[in-house]
Amino acid sequence: MACNSFLPSFCVFLLFLLYGASYTVTEARVIPAMFVFGDSLVDVGNNNYLRYSFAKANFPHNGIDFPTRKPTGRFGNGKNAADLIAVKMGLPTIPPYLSMSSKSNKSITQFLNGVNFASGASKILNDIDPQYPFSIPLEKQVDYYLAVHKDLAQGLGASRAQIYLSKSLYLIITGSNDIYNYFDSLSNSTQQQYVNSIVLIFKEQVKRLYDYGARKFSIVGVGVIGCTPSERNEQADRKCNEDTNRLSLKYNQALVSMLKNLASELRGINYSYFDGYSVMQNFIQKPTAYGFSEVKAACCGLGKLNADAPCLPFATYCTNRSNHLFWDRTHPTEAAHRKLVDYMLYGPLQYTFPLNVKKLVAI
Ligand SMILES: *[C@@H]1O[C@H](CO)[C@@H](O)[C@H](O)[C@H]1NC(C)=O
Ligand SMILES: *[C@@H]1O[C@H](CO)[C@@H](O)[C@H](O)[C@H]1NC(C)=O
Ligand SMILES: *[C@@H]1O[C@H](CO)[C@@H](O)[C@H](O)[C@H]1NC(C)=O
Ligand SMILES: *[C@@H]1O[C@H](CO)[C@@H](O)[C@H](O)[C@H]1NC(C)=O
Repeated sequence: MACNSFLPSFCVFLLFLLYGASYTVTEARVIPAMFVFGDSLVDVGNNNYLRYSFAKANFPHNGIDFPTRKPTGRFGNGKNAADLIAVKMGLPTIPPYLSMSSKSNKSITQFLNGVNFASGASKILNDIDPQYPFSIPLEKQVDYYLAVHKDLAQGLGASRAQIYLSKSLYLIITGSNDIYNYFDSLSNSTQQQYVNSIVLIFKEQVKRLYDYGARKFSIVGVGVIGCTPSERNEQADRKCNEDTNRLSLKYNQALVSMLKNLASELRGINYSYFDGYSVMQNFIQKPTAYGFSEVKAACCGLGKLNADAPCLPFATYCTNRSNHLFWDRTHPTEAAHRKLVDYMLYGPLQYTFPLNVKKLVAI
């Protein structure tokens, strides 16, 4: 355990914590906690608790490769990036915020490994999405975090909470639904105006997290989301939707420059940006080099590219999920999440900058 790298008072606390609970963690714990924000790429079951949401995955065949072999609300066949990073950090699975006991008796012990606030179909933009009005937008996720922070500060004392949180990792994976939504909505703003407005909201939310203790951010740009099976399905020739890809690149560029500025504004902040777009593009251009044999069609679904229907209980699914990039019409397989997470954690500067997550958590 990397306890000697923490301040002594925190270390005593951490020992107490580990002694008091029985974990089945194999890797050494490298951070005290992880807080996760974002969309279906990292939702671990929050949407199960949203009664009116249509953005759900708590039915077969989702979860067929999860350790329990059961649907959990994760949008995929197995674990997602939030789960896989937790393992690498020596943490147990980070629970969904909405699964936690009622506000009236929230005990801080349930927050101590971190909390996952991510919600399928979530956007950065705060407008009401006509398609998915009941998901939790980024700002609301940060509101929930502030409530958790209040309890942690009360339970641990302000200064211990500050040390605890400053060593923790804040993972944010979002933006895809905002990109898709630009083309679905009748927005009159130019692409650049739209991207700027999203990134401004993103910046405000990172600042709020910083104001409440966050110092280490792992932030992921949107992938080549014009090449998902559902986007290809809408193209006559099953090629990628280049409009979607161009807007994704524009957004990623704006996000990167926002992060650079923010790092010079906020003392003591450190971040790792992951260029998931380029890595995913490599997967698509040279599938076999990365262990994939199918990067166009979904594993689970129906019809053309298995993308005419979502992965519903009556859909069919492929036998080998390890060689497919996509699990369903919009979400990657666990195999793809694993490869992406490896680049996030250990990747070269070209994809993960100004430093990778392994170096970020070691600061
Ligand atoms: C809240 O606390 C009460 C009394 O300590 C306990 O019986 C109950 O199970 C708790 N509720 C939840 C949802 O944890
Ligand atoms: C976009 O512009 C048109 C024409 O100026 C206007 O009628 C429409 O209300 C605008 N739409 C939005 C969403 O602002
Ligand atoms: C962490 O961020 C600070 C500024 O907040 C910067 O001076 C420092 O070089 C960063 N550390 C690393 C290892 O990049
Ligand atoms: C499934 O695909 C992976 C990755 O391409 C491959 O290594 C493995 O051998 C395949 N498994 C089977 C049973 O074909």
